[in-house]
Amino acid sequence: MKRFPNLRDLSLPVKVLFTSFLLTMGIAYIFALLYLYLLDIEPHREMGMGLLQATLLKYYGNRGDTRLEKAMRGNMGERLTPDEKREISRWIEDGAPTEGFLKVEPIFKQNCAVCHSPESGLIPLTTYEEVRIITDIDLGESIRVLSRVSHIHLFGMSFIFILTGMIFSMSEINVYSRLIVIALPFVAIWMDIGSWWFTKFQTAFAYTVIIGGALMGLAFGAQIFISLYEMWLKRGEEEV
Ligand code: HEC
Repeated sequence: MKRFPNLRDLSLPVKVLFTSFLLTMGIAYIFALLYLYLLDIEPHREMGMGLLQATLLKYYGNRGDTRLEKAMRGNMGERLTPDEKREISRWIEDGAPTEGFLKVEPIFKQNCAVCHSPESGLIPLTTYEEVRIITDIDLGESIRVLSRVSHIHLFGMSFIFILTGMIFSMSEINVYSRLIVIALPFVAIWMDIGSWWFTKFQTAFAYTVIIGGALMGLAFGAQIFISLYEMWLKRGEEEV
């Protein structure tokens, strides 16, 4: 049978090259985690949120809290029937579109405009434009930002994974385990990035964002540690 090169038997210059690359990738990964923590996790933790909630807020947004909904939960809502409130909430969740305003307009006219007229000094609530101002809704990361971050990650990460994967493919561990550890980072990044998008529509995908990220870290770590171990520490049977 053809003997494939294994990590132990590589020449010293190649080992040094691979090792430098793997260590640099390991350090880069630690910085990526630190960045993620400082950017996404720490600010939310200060607000008392866990990882899952922070992920939801980032990709799904905070759809419950517009000025209008806050007011409706308070004493402004006392004039509204539960049905009317639901109608308004649904309209807000759809992104408060112009077309949908016709349906909710009478509710504002009947219950709010008495006080919230243009002359009142309060925020006027008589036209679409006026109501729109208090329905600005947090839909999470915009499609534009998501497209940018998604393509950069998919292009960039696959280059990293093909290099670490190629090094790791020379490992001597069981071939099936090797297949899994090589394919897993790719699967995990599809899962992770796909879920960024799906979370917008279905909040359960916030879990897969986290699971995908964790699996990727595990597989990536395994590739680096096992490769380094086999290059420098592992002894062949003949040497034992
Ligand atoms: C009886 C008069 C009255 C009616 C009717 C009324 N409001 Fe108000 N609204 C006020 C006053 C006065 C304030 C400002 C003081 C306050 O915040 O309580 C206010 C404040 C608000 C605010 C807060 C604005 C901000 O800065 O976030 C919103 C939103 C609001 N009203 C929405 C509504 C809606 C929606 C309705 C109809 C369902 C409504 N109001 C009906 C008198 C009224």
